[in-house]
Amino acid sequence: MLEVQTLFKRHFNFSATHIVRAPGRLELLGNHVDYNDGLVLSLAVDRYIEIASSPRTDGKIELISSSFPEPEVFWSNEFKKNPAAPWADYVKGVLDQLHKRGVNFNGFNAAIHGTIPMGAGMSSSAALEVATALTVRQLYPFSLNETGAALPPTRDSQGKLPPLSNTEKLHFAKVCRAAENQFVGVQSGLLDQISSLFGKAWHVMEIDFQSLSVQLTPMAGEAIIVCNSGVKHSLVAGDYNELRVQCENAAKALGVKFLRAVDPQFLAANKAKLTPREYECAFHVVSEIQRVIFAVKALREDDHQQFGQYMFQSHESSRHFLKNSVPELDLLVDLARTQPGCLGARLTGGGFGGATINLVAHHQAEAFMANMARLYQERTGHKMQPILCQIVDGAG
Ligand code: GLA
Repeated sequence: MLEVQTLFKRHFNFSATHIVRAPGRLELLGNHVDYNDGLVLSLAVDRYIEIASSPRTDGKIELISSSFPEPEVFWSNEFKKNPAAPWADYVKGVLDQLHKRGVNFNGFNAAIHGTIPMGAGMSSSAALEVATALTVRQLYPFSLNETGAALPPTRDSQGKLPPLSNTEKLHFAKVCRAAENQFVGVQSGLLDQISSLFGKAWHVMEIDFQSLSVQLTPMAGEAIIVCNSGVKHSLVAGDYNELRVQCENAAKALGVKFLRAVDPQFLAANKAKLTPREYECAFHVVSEIQRVIFAVKALREDDHQQFGQYMFQSHESSRHFLKNSVPELDLLVDLARTQPGCLGARLTGGGFGGATINLVAHHQAEAFMANMARLYQERTGHKMQPILCQIVDGAG
């Protein structure tokens, strides 16, 4: 957190009063099923968005970022997009949501520093949203309940706020998701925000999006490695929203609220009610949810070999049915498959570029990373530095 403090001091000429951070996440299994009320396995990982901040009383908010040259300045009661600083939309979107829920806050200065590669499907945007909400909580303490702002928490004798309860984490996640849906314009589900808040070191989160509950299962003993294809994925581009519409239309045509309610037999029997594209998307979602159920069983039995098979299958389903893969991601999975010690590999997150997640036996992780970097460069001409990730605690 030293860098973000230094960044703050260099720009504002004094020290920040608060520093928060929120981790990125990796979707281990369960592609595009969160907004279908399904089940997803996810991890919070040791790449973060950090925000150093201090309050100000003139109602102005001044943001700087280590990734963008220009500061962004606006008033604390007026949140408008600035096409020259789209990165600030995630901050403004959260502030807008908090404001709408009756949270009172004044201005502040904030420096943002991130170690989550952007566009790699590791949810730097959700981490920025979560870190923004936590920054406001530090500067202008508030609580959230179902309807909006509630009685603020009290600081202890050292000035520390109590950690967020699980119920409140869920409210924070919803505020951040609403920011993304309404301000940024991506109709994403709750996966990224829940993962950034609920993660636990060395554990896999099993998130049930119907009950909005999180169960934790330990997963030690294998390496989690990300291979970033370098193909930029931009969720705002509309491909993501398009998949969501197909799934919603399929659910409607099948007479259910969400595809979670559909099993493979029912889907097969009712195929004629769907357009070919709706069927493909529904087929992916319904079979992916089944895969997650089986994968949880494998995980609990410590059968990582079997677990990895579900990851490979998931990728094939995303590739052929959901069609959110790209040739570079397929290549990464195909290369990984041939590497000793690789138990599973698949695209992770929204798709249309971004990264793959690989489950690799620990003692073969180093060789895996070196080989993947070499082979990917040989085949595409592009440099790719695999990232070894550690599973960490969530924010808040
Ligand atoms: C993105 C979205 C999530 C989820 C994944 C795909 O990360 O933000 O809500 O839908 O894609 O599983």
